[in-house]
Amino acid sequence: MPAIERTFIAVKPDGVQRGLVGNIIARFEARGFRLVALKLVRPGKEHLEQHYAELKDKPFFPGLIEYMNSGPIVAMVWEGLDVVKTGRAMLGATNPLASAPGTIRGDYAIAVGRNVAHGSDSVENAEREIALWFKPEELVDWEQSQKAWIY
Ligand code: TYD
Ligand code: MG
Repeated sequence: MPAIERTFIAVKPDGVQRGLVGNIIARFEARGFRLVALKLVRPGKEHLEQHYAELKDKPFFPGLIEYMNSGPIVAMVWEGLDVVKTGRAMLGATNPLASAPGTIRGDYAIAVGRNVAHGSDSVENAEREIALWFKPEELVDWEQSQKAWIY
């Protein structure tokens, strides 16, 4: 059953450098999701290693951390019906060459190591990632006035 849930979405350093922040935000806004939190951050290696903890034994892990630590990241929380799975669909496949055109990665990326944006892959990971990137008081509760036209 789809449910109202929250997901962690981030524009990675390459997405920020390439000026894709507004475009990525616009896609989630236009879809009807509610923005709950947003900030530009350089959280440091240790934090990024925690974020990707489940990948720490992969051969690409050091390069991944270096890439993620190479510039500012836009960290966001988006809320809405089935937003975890839908956010992943909007991102496209991990490898941009396999991402469908129309998705964020399918429109703006070629290489897996420069795939522009992140999205949580499960409700459990979303909760873990939101708690890692945001303090509870950074999550903003507000009434989406268009709600009756979205749901
Ligand atoms: P992963 O969580 O598997 O993908 P996703 O971002 O789609 O959830 O991997 C995290 C990031 O690690 C991925 O976005 C890009 C990088 N990565 C590589 O550089 N090489 C690889 O072979 C894989 C699988 C991922
Ligand atoms: Mg992942």
